[in-house]
Amino acid sequence: MKNFFKVGNMMVSFRPKSLILAALVALVLSTVGMAIHAEDSGLSKEDKACLNCHDKEGLGKTLENGETLSLQISTKAYVESMHNGTSCEDCHSDIDAKTHGKVKTSINSKRDFSLTMQEACRTCHKKKFTEYEDSVHAALIKEGSKKAPMCSDCHNPHTVRSAKIIGPITATPCAKCHEDIFKAYSRSVHGQERIANGKAAPLCAGCHQAHAVKAASLGNDVKEACLSCHKNAVDMHKVWLPNTERHFEAISCPACHVPTAQRRVNLRLYDGVGKHQVSEKTGVPQFERLTHAADAKDTGLNERALWSLLKEFNRDGVEGKTILRGRLEVSSGVQAHQLSEKSKAIRDCNTCHQTGAAPFQSVTLTIAGPDGRPLRHDVQKDTLTSLTSMESVRGFYAIGSTRIKLLDSLLVLVLLGSISGSLGHMTIKRLFKSVREKLEAEKNAAPPQADKQVLPGDRRADDDASK
Ligand code: HEC
Ligand code: HEC
Ligand code: HEC
Ligand code: HEC
Ligand code: HEC
Ligand code: HEC
Ligand code: HEC
Ligand code: HEC
Ligand code: HEC
Repeated sequence: MKNFFKVGNMMVSFRPKSLILAALVALVLSTVGMAIHAEDSGLSKEDKACLNCHDKEGLGKTLENGETLSLQISTKAYVESMHNGTSCEDCHSDIDAKTHGKVKTSINSKRDFSLTMQEACRTCHKKKFTEYEDSVHAALIKEGSKKAPMCSDCHNPHTVRSAKIIGPITATPCAKCHEDIFKAYSRSVHGQERIANGKAAPLCAGCHQAHAVKAASLGNDVKEACLSCHKNAVDMHKVWLPNTERHFEAISCPACHVPTAQRRVNLRLYDGVGKHQVSEKTGVPQFERLTHAADAKDTGLNERALWSLLKEFNRDGVEGKTILRGRLEVSSGVQAHQLSEKSKAIRDCNTCHQTGAAPFQSVTLTIAGPDGRPLRHDVQKDTLTSLTSMESVRGFYAIGSTRIKLLDSLLVLVLLGSISGSLGHMTIKRLFKSVREKLEAEKNAAPPQADKQVLPGDRRADDDASK
């Protein structure tokens, strides 16, 4: 027999496991007498029976790995929890009444126990469960992480309260594992705003989601979260920042909004055909092997090494598929959370647009790892400058005879920077002459084709690749 009842906005099904329960209830009632009043708490007799043994201080068991698992469940907290209409057996369906509590069972570790119990959540919270399964946290667990969270790391099933209750920021489950980031966040504009005025400002899940948490640097999810709250941000920047859209694409928000941060250029391997960041395939890692082969001395990839690496990545599959896209960002996860008020944000064009500008002194190459988190390798900073010489760019473009959208926007920036110094006057002149000629040739010709060389400065034609 299957019964349904409605709790909140959700249908809950339960099968009275009559035999098991009857046996347990009988056992408990016979040992403690009729002192249980099921009406008091709204709990069923069956649940009370469990709690009668389990709401006892000090009840615990030693697991195979030596850990102690506390077995105490507070009746009061359970009654006040969102699961008070759910019976113990809905989640603990594998309890054997005949032997339970008498015969010791074997559990390897707390972690193992949580992993087996997690399936219980799926029955009633399918949507959250599916979202979670698609997260970086779930991917980490699949990879064998002993530290990434499961449902019960963020929600105690016996004490869970409504998500609508706004607690202090310290109550976010993310804080206990991402301690340094939490500290930085709590001092940021958003942390301070939230402490002062409550929930309009985002807590961790406001920018990263709670269940479908993705690697932060993958795609544009986080930036889109910023823009979904700060709807007029683009317009507000347009007032002083020319071509705001381009700047927003080539610079992460914290790179300007965390004035004290160190910045760097991140060259991301990008699939120019599929239009997404290139990910390392599970089981067939290439990146480490290839970067080490290309940079045996570990001094950072130089121009030549970068070139041969790209060639390798384009070896199989569609030719010219793998390209590089540059982005200016802060150098660490902690720094990304030190957002300060707008008056401190960077607006001095010279911070970036001058020869030797600090953000361009550190360059890294990344690919998305199997779980989405970035794998990195250092690139020699001179590589950026040498890319501005037409010859080497041609070299890059020659790979697979398809255009490689190298550095995309950043290249232009370096060009702008170079004008004031580093390259010789003649080089610059020659450079621009050839750019001009190419541009003119292109204007007169048909729209750019895949197998045609396109100028580094011609980013308009690249716009679609960034969508
Ligand atoms: C007669 C007392 C008693 C009752 C009633 C009882 N338990 Fe237990 N329970 C225990 C003891 C003792 C242990 C520790 C067993 C061990 O050391 O292996 C335990 C262990 C557990 C564990 C830890 C996992 C395991 O299997 O060892 C869970 C979960 C649990 N009980 C849930 C329940 C639920 C749910 C009910 C009601 C359906 C219930 N218990 C009823 C005494 C009881
Ligand atoms: C919504 C599902 C759910 C309900 C309802 C539920 N439990 Fe649990 N219970 C779990 C999960 C999941 C775990 C594993 C905890 C973890 O991963 O830390 C667990 C663990 C336990 C443990 C082992 C100690 C611990 O905290 O890990 C005991 C004992 C227990 N439950 C008893 C009960 C009793 C008694 C009830 C009813 C009053 C109950 N549970 C109701 C899901 C539930
Ligand atoms: C038998 C069905 C059932 C199972 C199994 C179950 N839950 Fe629930 N859960 C509920 C119900 C019913 C509510 C109350 C929902 C409501 O009123 O909107 C709830 C509420 C919650 C809430 C609070 C939702 C809110 O509105 O803030 C969380 C968090 C939660 N459950 C997590 C879990 C986790 C984690 C597990 C697995 C350990 C689990 N649940 C297993 C039925 C279940
Ligand atoms: C990394 C921490 C984390 C993990 C893991 C996690 N949750 Fe949550 N969950 C949260 C937070 C934070 C909220 C608060 C709501 C929000 O901000 O979206 C929440 C909210 C919820 C809610 C209430 C949603 C609502 O909008 O009313 C349910 C139900 C829930 N979680 C179930 C689960 C289940 C089931 C799992 C396992 C599949 C799980 N959660 C795993 C952090 C987590
Ligand atoms: C205002 C939005 C925002 C909030 C709130 C926020 N983050 Fe982030 N988080 C970011 C941004 C932006 C990045 C950097 C993304 C990138 O590389 O483009 C990031 C990166 C991360 C990373 C990856 C760090 C790394 O080493 O690369 C983690 C982990 C993280 N956040 C966790 C948290 C936690 C935990 C909280 C809550 C204490 C939190 N975030 C709050 C925006 C936010
Ligand atoms: C039980 C511990 C735990 C909890 C709770 C937890 N995380 Fe994580 N998280 C990890 C671990 C471990 C990693 C992998 C190591 C790392 O990248 O920091 C990770 C990775 C991440 C990443 C990917 C990092 C990257 O490089 O982009 C993000 C984003 C993230 N967590 C956000 C959150 C958010 C948001 C919450 C709360 C809703 C949360 N985490 C709660 C343990 C946890
Ligand atoms: C090139 C540097 C730069 C970049 C990139 C940048 N900002 Fe700004 N932003 C600023 C400066 C400078 C101000 C202050 C302008 C003022 O006070 O008039 C500002 C102001 C703001 C404000 C306050 C607007 C107002 O006047 O109320 C918000 C919100 C904001 N930025 C969000 C963002 C977001 C979201 C992103 C990423 C999508 C971003 N910014 C990228 C430099 C930048
Ligand atoms: C959930 C909505 C929300 C999200 C997501 C969000 N913010 Fe905010 N932000 C706020 C609120 C609310 C404030 C405080 C009120 C205000 O100044 O607008 C604020 C303040 C700010 C300020 C300070 C503005 C000032 O007047 O000094 C900046 C800068 C800012 N946010 C940037 C960002 C960036 C960058 C991101 C993404 C990484 C982001 N915000 C994500 C809601 C949000
Ligand atoms: C934090 C670094 C940073 C700051 C500050 C900055 N820029 Fe930029 N700027 C860039 C980057 C990176 C690009 C490359 C984007 C591109 O070429 O599309 C760029 C590109 C440009 C371009 C070429 C874009 C186009 O439309 O082709 C111009 C013009 C420009 N910036 C002007 C300015 C001016 C004027 C300021 C000051 C008001 C400024 N920038 C502030 C980093 C910065």
